[in-house]
Amino acid sequence: MNIHIINKNIDDINSDVKVAFVTKEELESHSLASTLKKAGFKAEQDTTLFLHESSFLVCGVDAHDNDSLRSASASAVKVLKNSNYNDAKISLASSKTIKGIVEGFVLGGYEYNQYKSEPKERTFRELLIAYDTKDFNDAKTLLESALIIAKATCFTRDIVNTAPQELNPPSFAILAEKLADEYNLECDILGEDRLKDENMGAMLAVGRASIHDSKLIHLTYKSANPKKIISLIGKGLTYDSGGLSLKPATSMVTMKMDKAGGCAVLGIMKAISELKLDIEVHAFIGAVENMIGGNAYKPDDVLVSRSKKTIEIRNTDAEGRLVLADVLDYAQDKVDADFIFDFATLTGACMVALGQYTTGLMGHSTKLKHEFMMKAASNSGELIGHLPFNRHLKKLIKSEIADICNTASKPYGGAITAGMFLDSFIHEENKDKWLHFDIAGSAYTETPWDCNTYGGTGAGVRFMTSFLQNIK
Ligand code: BES
Ligand code: ZN
Ligand code: ZN
Repeated sequence: MNIHIINKNIDDINSDVKVAFVTKEELESHSLASTLKKAGFKAEQDTTLFLHESSFLVCGVDAHDNDSLRSASASAVKVLKNSNYNDAKISLASSKTIKGIVEGFVLGGYEYNQYKSEPKERTFRELLIAYDTKDFNDAKTLLESALIIAKATCFTRDIVNTAPQELNPPSFAILAEKLADEYNLECDILGEDRLKDENMGAMLAVGRASIHDSKLIHLTYKSANPKKIISLIGKGLTYDSGGLSLKPATSMVTMKMDKAGGCAVLGIMKAISELKLDIEVHAFIGAVENMIGGNAYKPDDVLVSRSKKTIEIRNTDAEGRLVLADVLDYAQDKVDADFIFDFATLTGACMVALGQYTTGLMGHSTKLKHEFMMKAASNSGELIGHLPFNRHLKKLIKSEIADICNTASKPYGGAITAGMFLDSFIHEENKDKWLHFDIAGSAYTETPWDCNTYGGTGAGVRFMTSFLQNIK
């Protein structure tokens, strides 16, 4: 999808179709009001009406804000992709809403056709945005950055959607190397020998029954004068069968998405490289496959993590926190970062708590959490909800025989107890620098919503890039 902004009035631009967003109030005074009403158009959010004779696609919106326009643009692009038109034009009311339109068209028009032998041919390729206002150059800059972030989100979606027989820990590492080559990033891949040298007993145990070697991927982006140093840690379970605590058949389907945290981190690296942000960012991805076999780790095992903390295993399906325990410890020893953020499809409980659409945010620093909740996330089009730690839930991950247990003794608050498990691997001096994002619900969908189509959503890329863009 190509999107161009043109410093002209919409009537002076040649295009196959004119698209307009109309609120209920605007419908009343619209020049085509009676035709539109006769056709049953009520300007409800996300509804569309195509007047082919007039080459006019009208889309209902609640308001001309980014949230409404993103969702309406996603509806519009689906209609246009099913037509045989090549391009469309719209008129932009304010440069502030270019982001919503770009996200709606690029992300809402996304489809993953890698495994279709005969993908549908689409002719619709281009959106022309008419904007003949004083701040044209500002709008152009905003368009460029919105496009970079939306395309990086699609890049993340592509990796999440790749089938697990193709995307395994070694091929994940190759993909990261390619990204590093393309953007001149430093790249260090730790194979199992080096993971053993690092005493990563928790991460290695999870991957032991897989035919694929586990990999720890470390990419570094460095600008000339970085304002801050940031470590991004991603859960990269290329498949989560549950291990010996095997998942039921229906829950196992979609578990290729358990690498979405790692994929988000790669997407963010791509976005910041293209945006050329003045920061230093380290990406650490624990790429592992959780399988069954005679050598699988098991419930009752006690693992010794890199931090020397011992972990009693009571459920091998709570594997993400084991991988992250070692990767977080490694990341903290390697880089003295100002911020440490981890992304993980960690718990089904997060979906129970917040619903499928919202990323769970956990951590100690109220200030940092506030910056995400109020600023980065609210402008990014992603939903974030806070889940508070407390000392009562912390007791539930105590172990009778080891330093900590990988599952909680009671079923409620599972997203928080998982977050508190990770917290026990955060070094004392880093407590206020760290945030954990549980993207179990938000990273993948089988029912399209907003600008998210079937499959990976790219959760994390938009809100984190938006936060990084605003670092002073
Ligand atoms: N990868 C899953 C979490 C998950 C579930 C992500 C559904 C996306 C959709 C994770 O490894 C897991 O299995 N967690 C367990 C933890 C439990 C055993 C304590 C869960 O959520 O059931
Ligand atoms: Zn699991
Ligand atoms: Zn998992």
